[in-house]
Amino acid sequence: RKDLLDIESLSRAEIEELLDQAVPFKDLFTRSVKKVPALKGKTVLNLFYEPSTRTLSSFEVAAKRLSADVTNFDVPHSSVVKGESVKDTIDTLQSMRTDYIIVRNKLSGLPGVIARETKASVINAGDGQHAHPTQALLDGFTFREVFPQTDGRRILIVGDILHSRVARSTTNLMRKIGVEVAWLGPGPLVPKHGPKGVRRFTNYEEAMAWAPDVVYLLRVQMERQDVQYFPSLREYHKLYGVTTERFKQIEDNGTYIMHPGPVNRGVELCDAVMDYSKSLINTQVENGIAARMAVLYSLKPGTSEDSAS
Ligand code: CP
Repeated sequence: RKDLLDIESLSRAEIEELLDQAVPFKDLFTRSVKKVPALKGKTVLNLFYEPSTRTLSSFEVAAKRLSADVTNFDVPHSSVVKGESVKDTIDTLQSMRTDYIIVRNKLSGLPGVIARETKASVINAGDGQHAHPTQALLDGFTFREVFPQTDGRRILIVGDILHSRVARSTTNLMRKIGVEVAWLGPGPLVPKHGPKGVRRFTNYEEAMAWAPDVVYLLRVQMERQDVQYFPSLREYHKLYGVTTERFKQIEDNGTYIMHPGPVNRGVELCDAVMDYSKSLINTQVENGIAARMAVLYSLKPGTSEDSAS
């Protein structure tokens, strides 16, 4: 496989192989082994047209731990701001013979276009509302650490499902590894015709009665909202957030909490959740490095004739 563009194109076996590969990478740095020579001599380019804290730094650390040379393309100070097209930018970068290009952009499908244009391995680090496959992989890895037998476990994904690339990719991945998925959110933001078998809730209490093992809170993305459908932040917290009251129930049930970050405290969750022993939020960030090492390690930069996914 040359590129990683989405979760749809991965089989369960391929996903599990990537998750298995991440295990020794995580073990290495818990044993303070900072670097392995696997990608020595290779070059990795981070091409982020949208802001990122976790994904960008996580890919940088992952690539460096594999001994690759890393360049972070500085979009605000590049010729992109002078109007250079993405195609011309890619041609320029291609001339530099980069082995891996990690791309985040607000345009759904752009990583696929770049993958077809370049010999480098392209990894989608989030494209519009389409996909965020490495987030899904680190979520799957984190879920599997807690529940090694994933079949029949339950995850409730809460928030604006419609606009969320994280919801799309993580739903796909969880279902592929046998986890039952339900969605909860404001009616117009929970697709009526989601994947077959995904339960759909618009009421928090009904969703919790479904007894999820994990509640996965999506970030409220104000930058992508159609305000017509979105409640105020205070109302959102009351209707769909983990309030102090609901947190008590979550603690009593021993339900795990996940969130892709960045967290809007007081919106998706109350402060106390951040210190909850079954909050996996920081573990997700930590696991992102191992999952991304596994992805970089598994992809094979190739010739332009290779398939794009
Ligand atoms: N989860 C995630 O994609 O976070 P960043 O936007 O900080 O990369």
